[in-house]
Amino acid sequence: MAQKSSTLEFHESGSGTPLLLIHGFPFHSQMWARQLESLSTDARLIAPDLPGFGKTGKPAGETTVDQYAKECLALLDTLGIDRAVVGGLSMGGYITLAFVRLYPDRLRGLILASTKAGADSAEGKGGRDKTIAGVKEKGIGVVVEGMHPKLLAPANYAQQPSIATELKEIMDQSSVEGVVAALSAMRDRPDSAPLLSTIKTPTLVIHGKEDAIIPPSEAEAMAKAIPNSELRLIANAGHLPNMEQQSEFDRAVREFLHKV
Ligand code: MLT
Repeated sequence: MAQKSSTLEFHESGSGTPLLLIHGFPFHSQMWARQLESLSTDARLIAPDLPGFGKTGKPAGETTVDQYAKECLALLDTLGIDRAVVGGLSMGGYITLAFVRLYPDRLRGLILASTKAGADSAEGKGGRDKTIAGVKEKGIGVVVEGMHPKLLAPANYAQQPSIATELKEIMDQSSVEGVVAALSAMRDRPDSAPLLSTIKTPTLVIHGKEDAIIPPSEAEAMAKAIPNSELRLIANAGHLPNMEQQSEFDRAVREFLHKV
């Protein structure tokens, strides 16, 4: 059931270790729907909609990954949760790394899915600016059309067409304001690579072997740099391993939860 916190709408299920799951771009909490059900016997799952995505209201203007992390912390505070396992996929992972930098004492564990530690290159920043201009002029179709063909492992478009359709529906629900704010937050995010060796929290790094948006080498590099980490590379999965290979993704998370 969707509920209202101080700023973010969210879905919650299960009981036990709190597990906050932050969605990627340009999705919303529904991308975690499978985990909200399947992991509810293992954890108390909380999946927010970031501003301008899903059911949360639009952001006032440009934002930052730190601001997103702050809103996630406010949600934990609203729920009376002191320490949580914080996990994020792709942009959700960038926000998770901001959370690590800002609120390390509020962490019980970390899950970094389909993400990377580095900042955008100069070329990447230029690409974000171009996309922002395109979205302002023509709407979010610019992003959906550009990203949708790269989301899944190529074979999964034919083998799991319902996931491709579901993702398109989720993306189509994003607002222009939410998309523009997220693009600027990703463009301006700091380099988190220097943070990795200081992370004390147990960390699960999880990545699809066929991710065409962020290569698995990024996950390998993060797992190498984070002292107390484990790496799971998932076969036959692209950028959304939690949807494309749900049971393997869930198994990795479940095993990790039992260790934190
Ligand atoms: C995401 O999936 O969250 C984004 O593609 C990440 C990015 O654009 O850097």
